[in-house]
Amino acid sequence: MLHGKRSDMVVHEEEPFNAETARGALAEASVTSTAAFFSRNHGAIPRSGPSSWRLSVDGLVDEQLSLSLDELRERFAEREIVATLQCAGNRRQDLLEVREIPGEAPWGPGATGTATWRGVALADVLQAARPQDAAEHVAFVGADVSDEPQPPEAYGASIPRRKAERSEVLLAWEMNGEVLPAVHGGPLRVVVPGFIGARSVKWLERIELRAAPWDGFFQSTAYRLLPPEGEAAPGAGIALGEVALNSDILAPDDDARLSAGAIEVRGYAFAGGERRVVRVDVSLDAGDSWVQAELLEDLGRWAWRLWRTELDLEPGSHEIVVRAWDSAAASQPERPGPLWNPKGYVNNAWGRVRVHAET
Ligand code: MTE
Repeated sequence: MLHGKRSDMVVHEEEPFNAETARGALAEASVTSTAAFFSRNHGAIPRSGPSSWRLSVDGLVDEQLSLSLDELRERFAEREIVATLQCAGNRRQDLLEVREIPGEAPWGPGATGTATWRGVALADVLQAARPQDAAEHVAFVGADVSDEPQPPEAYGASIPRRKAERSEVLLAWEMNGEVLPAVHGGPLRVVVPGFIGARSVKWLERIELRAAPWDGFFQSTAYRLLPPEGEAAPGAGIALGEVALNSDILAPDDDARLSAGAIEVRGYAFAGGERRVVRVDVSLDAGDSWVQAELLEDLGRWAWRLWRTELDLEPGSHEIVVRAWDSAAASQPERPGPLWNPKGYVNNAWGRVRVHAET
């Protein structure tokens, strides 16, 4: 399979490579295996070997830096975190069923996953560059060029400096204990825990400290939430940053045929930002009554929480729904309809699967 991925990946596009994890594969473990991890690419994967690769840090800094991978390892302390990546287009398929979304791939439930990332803290590298007071945003530029914007441009994005200086934001060269594969941004990528995947820039070549957010296409035009009648244009809509609270059912699969009686239901819940998942409810009667799921292994504040519960199924067809609650006591909207937006981002409606129970 392409890029070392498992054969059960749902491939939306081979070039550029865009593939999501099958629902069942996400249910297998709290940490998603690299071979099953989704990959979202806006351009071809660049070919730059680790030996020729350098990272520059420039813009509003007192000390410009140019670092090789070895220099990064030698100068800064190594750190490791478990963090969930979630694409803003995760679960777009359900929005597409409400109204068409031209030009965007129908991502299902698997544009998300959780991995162990190892590298250095971006904060430590920034400190060495001595940012000036006027630097309020930190931009990341990748080595890949996308032809989605016209003219084509390098993939770039930024985050506010106050997030960039937090210890959880990593420049990572390792994923799940192995050298970061090219498809996930090797030799070096940014990992911005709690923020939409689009800000975790892969094949990182340049960090620019700026007074304003990055003005490239993927920050100023894409990854912005438009009103239903809005049109994508530079600066239009709400720039996406923190991930919104979300949850989904991972097993049983949608449309599964099962034996009637007791079944196990499993899924994930992810709070995004700095919030935590505090409760997960599951219902068999469209939310008239709920059972509280058991929250499984806690992998720290930047990772999703897998959960499980048991339900008793009468013979026939059923819809199972899930909603999570976060530490702000916020929950998820019931239906995707009112969330529809022209680019199909941020569907965080209740997770749903249909199942058929047979005697
Ligand atoms: N970085 C670069 N350079 N080019 C890209 O196309 N895609 C972004 C982000 N970083 C992208 C990128 C998006 S939209 C997402 S969701 C994540 O990478 C996906 O990371 P993954 O492919 O490792 O799962």
